[in-house]
Amino acid sequence: MSKQLSFPKHKITILLLEGIHPAAVETFRRAGYAVESVKHALSEEELLEAAPSVHLLGIRSKTQITQRVIRAAPQLLAIGCYCIGTNQVDLESAASAGIPVFNAPFSNTRSVAELTIAEAIMLARKASHKSLMMHSGRWDKSAEGCFEVRNKVLGIVGYGHIGPQVGLLAEAFGMKVVFFDIAKKLPLGNAQPLASLKALLQQSDFVALHVPETPATRNMIGKQELDAMKQGSYLLNLSRGSVVDIAALAEALRKGSIAGAAVDVFPEEPSSNNEVFESDLRGLDNVILTPHIGGSTLEAQHNIGIEVSSSLVDFTDSGRSAGAVNFPQVDLPMMDGSHRVLNIHRNVPGVLKDITGIVAAVGGNIRGQYLGTMNDIGYLIMDVDQSVSRNIKREIEKLETNIRTRLLF
Ligand code: NAI
Repeated sequence: MSKQLSFPKHKITILLLEGIHPAAVETFRRAGYAVESVKHALSEEELLEAAPSVHLLGIRSKTQITQRVIRAAPQLLAIGCYCIGTNQVDLESAASAGIPVFNAPFSNTRSVAELTIAEAIMLARKASHKSLMMHSGRWDKSAEGCFEVRNKVLGIVGYGHIGPQVGLLAEAFGMKVVFFDIAKKLPLGNAQPLASLKALLQQSDFVALHVPETPATRNMIGKQELDAMKQGSYLLNLSRGSVVDIAALAEALRKGSIAGAAVDVFPEEPSSNNEVFESDLRGLDNVILTPHIGGSTLEAQHNIGIEVSSSLVDFTDSGRSAGAVNFPQVDLPMMDGSHRVLNIHRNVPGVLKDITGIVAAVGGNIRGQYLGTMNDIGYLIMDVDQSVSRNIKREIEKLETNIRTRLLF
């Protein structure tokens, strides 16, 4: 049996802002939805005007989704952030209103991996410095301090989504790869896991950081760690700005204990292209500086478009909330011959008992169910007999704990 939405697709209003990649629109179109896509961000006042009729809203980083906007959007089913960050959305208000927020945290990992490898080679060949010199008219043809990366050891700190891709690319260049991660990870290629960060620092010619920002990774590379690195080695940070103590790095570079660094992320980054970039690393010729562009490619934008639109389509069509950042993650395969009740409720004891009681009272049968909770929110997907699904929805909506209930058939 093919599933249909109880709410016809042509009545779903999808608004995408900030020039989101056409792949996002195409993903909706393929799923049978029409989309309105505009190039710019909307102000809060403009959003308040548009919000009442919108079911799915897609933004990037400029549009602020405040509590006022959420309150003005009674039909809003879900928000898609077509980027990595989600702090432009009031996540708590969205969750309280039963609105999951989706993003695309891993769509740009390949882009980061490629730039990491490219910068390792640029550092080893002093290519960035020589390029800068030539722009100022100086010709410095010399092999002094320039190396191949072949046979050198690359130490990867954090072997999650990006780390292994960096490792595989590095092996293609003939590098030996070691890694350190706090979790047990399956090594790809010939990568060797190491037991400690210290062991990695002591034996790597290149140290590439690919860890998240956590209390444990804050300044995880400081004076002591830089001193533990091999003389003449290189540091690459394309992870998060808080991971490296920049003053200590600048000092290590000035005294020459390490040969160079590539840094893409900084403890303080300009909030717009008009602001001046300030850092102790400015002016050091053995440093490649890039303005947090590790993941900034058109391919990544394309992938983000597909990933976030797919999450929104899945949530609308089947209730699947996998990948939501503020909301219980629930997934249940669609079962033929049943109707699906999606209930978002306040997470207090006894809700499931109340709902099971409702199904029993109308003489219905639960064919499959999955409950997830996160903080104050509970989310239940329940497949029930077709004959009683509407009654069940109606009764659940009367519960004091109900936030929103949808029926898919
Ligand atoms: P991920 O979450 O997939 O992997 C991170 C890995 O680090 C995990 O395996 C985790 O177990 C490990 N880890 C956590 N704490 C650790 C510690 N104290 N010591 C050693 N390992 C530790 O993250 P992903 O996608 O690989 O991204 C890595 C970093 O790159 C993140 O900080 C992310 O924000 C950043 N990033 C930067 C971009 C840029 O434009 N420069 C773009 C995309 C991601």
